[in-house]
Amino acid sequence: MPLRTLSDLEDSQFDGKKVLVRVDFNVSVNNGTVGEDYRIRMSLPTIEYMTKRGAKVILASHLGRPEGWDKAHSLAPVAKRLSDIIGKSRPIRFADDCVGPAVQGEIEKMEKGDVLLLENLRFHKEEEANDPEFSKKLASLADIYVNDAFSTSHRKHSSTYGAAWLFDIRLAGFNLKKEIEYLSMIREKPIKPFTLVVGGVKIKDKIGALEHLLPKADKVIIGGAAAYTFLKAKGIKTGNSLIDEERLPWVTKALSAHGDKIMLPTDHVCANSPNDTSVTMVRGDIPSGMSGFDIGNETIERYSAEVGGNGGGTVFWNGPMGMFEIRAFSNGTTNIAKSMALAFWRGSKTLIGGGDTLEAMKKAGVAENEVSHVSTGGGATLRYLAGDDMPGVVILNGH
Ligand code: 3PG
Repeated sequence: MPLRTLSDLEDSQFDGKKVLVRVDFNVSVNNGTVGEDYRIRMSLPTIEYMTKRGAKVILASHLGRPEGWDKAHSLAPVAKRLSDIIGKSRPIRFADDCVGPAVQGEIEKMEKGDVLLLENLRFHKEEEANDPEFSKKLASLADIYVNDAFSTSHRKHSSTYGAAWLFDIRLAGFNLKKEIEYLSMIREKPIKPFTLVVGGVKIKDKIGALEHLLPKADKVIIGGAAAYTFLKAKGIKTGNSLIDEERLPWVTKALSAHGDKIMLPTDHVCANSPNDTSVTMVRGDIPSGMSGFDIGNETIERYSAEVGGNGGGTVFWNGPMGMFEIRAFSNGTTNIAKSMALAFWRGSKTLIGGGDTLEAMKKAGVAENEVSHVSTGGGATLRYLAGDDMPGVVILNGH
């Protein structure tokens, strides 16, 4: 069933109505200042669509994984950033809780077109427990429910599930809808040729998505620490490089089923430790005592040619090629990011998933508009691509 979204309601149905919008403002906040605000910016079309139609927009989100009340996890800095972006004429208001009489009082004071951000939902442990009483309290705040938090929709929490269930009108926000459309294309029928680029450290989190996508992909490019587990499974010496021993049997199976399309690094930028300033380029076996921290030049050339030459199909990239935070180990990731941009300009659908991949892309000087879609999700994106049901999406369509 297609998702019901904001434009499925008449404009007049928003006029003067209180709308509870589950957003994902789980962004990095350091010393009270928001870092990357991509997730905040991606919620703007939904917020502004409703404020222009006279709705009273009540935003609810979590931030981090606090254990009880904790100022370091307050959403106050996010309210400030949102105000800086859209609140010029009418500042974004902030409620210092997300339920209760004081919040109700704040909502009563709202005028049409106002926006109120509630304090971190996870300051109440009932949120993650999907507690029925807490869900009722949240649902009592508004007339309409909107989920625009794709990246939290794999969680069956009060704000994504229990409270949503209590509304007659439950809608998908524009960002959630866009995410589902792009990721469904990849999950169900990627436009061919389909190139999958997988890096990062944890294979464990990616196995579900890989199992689903490996048979659909034409080429699978492996980089980052994940590559060393693949190389070890092939009997290549990996020195002290990070290996996921537990996943070796799975990797061995994947190689025997799909080895013909899996590309692995043939050379590496190695050092004794990430802080070592003298790096060595190694081809083939990595000597004991050394670790690989980035793909080498020959590998970069092969990988870049494959991504940049995708030719009107689809490229999905998740996870950096090396320890890109350190300049000496950032070349692989930078080149993949540039090749992604090239593939985009040459007509491929290019998608990236995961916060660190966005960070890596920006570090490489590639802009957000040089890629077809940047997913706001980390874990949620991988779960969706693995074929898992997302409670926060399922609840929008029915009980
Ligand atoms: C994320 O950053 O992936 C989402 O906001 C979900 O956060 P969580 O893993 O703490 O539930």
